[in-house]
Amino acid sequence: WGTTKWIRDFCARRDITLHEVEASDTAALQALCAVQQAQLLFIETPSNPWLKTVDIKAAKACAQSAGASLVVDSTAATPLLTRPLEMGADIVMHSATKVINGHSDVLGGVLSTRARTPLWEAICMDRNEAGAVMGPFEAWLLVRSMRTLPLRVEKMCANAMAVAEFLSQHPEVEDVLYPGLPSHPGHALASRQMTGGYGFLMSFLVKGGREAALAVAGRLNLFHRATSLGGVESLVEHRHTIEPHTGIPENLLRISIGIEDVDDLISDLNQALLG
Ligand SMILES: Cc1ncc(COP(=O)(O)O)c(C=O)c1O
Repeated sequence: WGTTKWIRDFCARRDITLHEVEASDTAALQALCAVQQAQLLFIETPSNPWLKTVDIKAAKACAQSAGASLVVDSTAATPLLTRPLEMGADIVMHSATKVINGHSDVLGGVLSTRARTPLWEAICMDRNEAGAVMGPFEAWLLVRSMRTLPLRVEKMCANAMAVAEFLSQHPEVEDVLYPGLPSHPGHALASRQMTGGYGFLMSFLVKGGREAALAVAGRLNLFHRATSLGGVESLVEHRHTIEPHTGIPENLLRISIGIEDVDDLISDLNQALLG
């Protein structure tokens, strides 16, 4: 939502035409790109907090038909689980604030490209002359963190899969949004596009509506109530409180799964759901 809001505001101020489309619906994306010329196609997969999956190869074909560069926000997939540059993306974006750092103590971002195109040169020039250049301490913290990135991602994915399976069987849970579950509409695509796991992020719908969801969040002991994601500690957030106008269900809780003992996470969720 933060990215969407910023892009809307930026485009309005700069007189840039913006078209928004549900990119997990490949046919809708193709239909839009067939009739529009564009400079940039920006997608996010899996998306936060809906966990929708976008077909990166299909998006690349759409971008080409519209004459656009393809940018993929791959934050929720981590740099390990999906390699969008190999699937045709021109630029890949990661919020390094999240799993790349993993310790919830740095703000940062990463752009990667396959080739030194004129677009990339322009990005480098803007960054150098007017952009956000990372301070040395933050850079050092990131280098420290990345030494454990594969271990953290492996544990987080295994924990997340077990938590998703537990929640999907729970009588107080209406639905679980996690691409690792065979019931998820993007499961087959995620299985092709992601290797080594389905990530650490998921949302679930609590039976009983808004009050029930808020009560569950309030009863959790191990999960911190906070907005970030991708850290070693598990977090929970009631997204409707943050973005009430975007159609997020009032009973949706988004959780980011950390590296704690998975049985502890599951028993915490169980006691919170049973009240
Ligand atoms: C998928 C995704 N991209 C980008 C961002 C923005 O990251 P940052 O907080 O580093 O600006 C977020 C933050 O929640 C995110 O979830």
